[in-house]
Amino acid sequence: MSNEFPLGLFDSGIGGTSIWKEIHMLLPNENTIYLADSKNAPYGLKSRDEIIELSIKNTEFLLNKNAKIIVVACNTATTNAIKELRAKYEIPIIGIEPAIKPAANLSKTQTIGILATKGTLNSDLFHEKISLYSNIKIIEQIGHGLVQLIENGDINSAEMSELLESYLRPMVDQNIDYLVLGCSHYPYLIPQIKNIIPNHIKIIDSGEAVAKQTKKILEKYNLLKTSRSVSWQKFYTNTNPHVLKTILNHEKTVIEKDF
Ligand code: SIN
Repeated sequence: MSNEFPLGLFDSGIGGTSIWKEIHMLLPNENTIYLADSKNAPYGLKSRDEIIELSIKNTEFLLNKNAKIIVVACNTATTNAIKELRAKYEIPIIGIEPAIKPAANLSKTQTIGILATKGTLNSDLFHEKISLYSNIKIIEQIGHGLVQLIENGDINSAEMSELLESYLRPMVDQNIDYLVLGCSHYPYLIPQIKNIIPNHIKIIDSGEAVAKQTKKILEKYNLLKTSRSVSWQKFYTNTNPHVLKTILNHEKTVIEKDF
């Protein structure tokens, strides 16, 4: 294992680039490979077995490209498959879980909202996590349709605004003061969400925390890239790369490959 080897990230599609951006900002010297399994998005509606199978396939792809650690940049894959991945592979595997803890600890109204996929909200890992906060009212909402609209590049569509309004208004009416984004696609909706919820409601996602955790793990295992050679970033997708290129501002190499 060489420190020059890349970090490997995967997601059900383009959403995990929100995590990649945070990691790249904190660790610009690292080489990275990002895998967007957009052909199989959304994962949130798949069975647990299917999610585990896809997560193993994605991990194998990244390991074949010499990934030194794996970041599961997808909440649905983390909550359903991370235990299996950690049991199967020896390299460090970092996951992304909804940021319930900071929201629950900071909430003054004792009421928080979480927007996530069906796969995340129904997972055992998510239930284990929220059982620690029985003093807090947690309003769960499945974001039906949101991932598909983001994958299609329809972030600013009327349909998106209508869906968000119908998901968020009931939370606002129940006096939440924190909204947890429990899907790595959703940070791309923050401008639209801010048009709907009042300013005093804070939005929390997990990107920064995952980036810090990634740095910690690289330090712990002595895996930080030490050379000052210019770092590289590669993105793979198994669908039309147009939307992925657009959210990367056409600045990165995107490779279209059927996997
Ligand atoms: C999905 O593919 O349904 C969403 C991915 C996520 O939960 O981050």
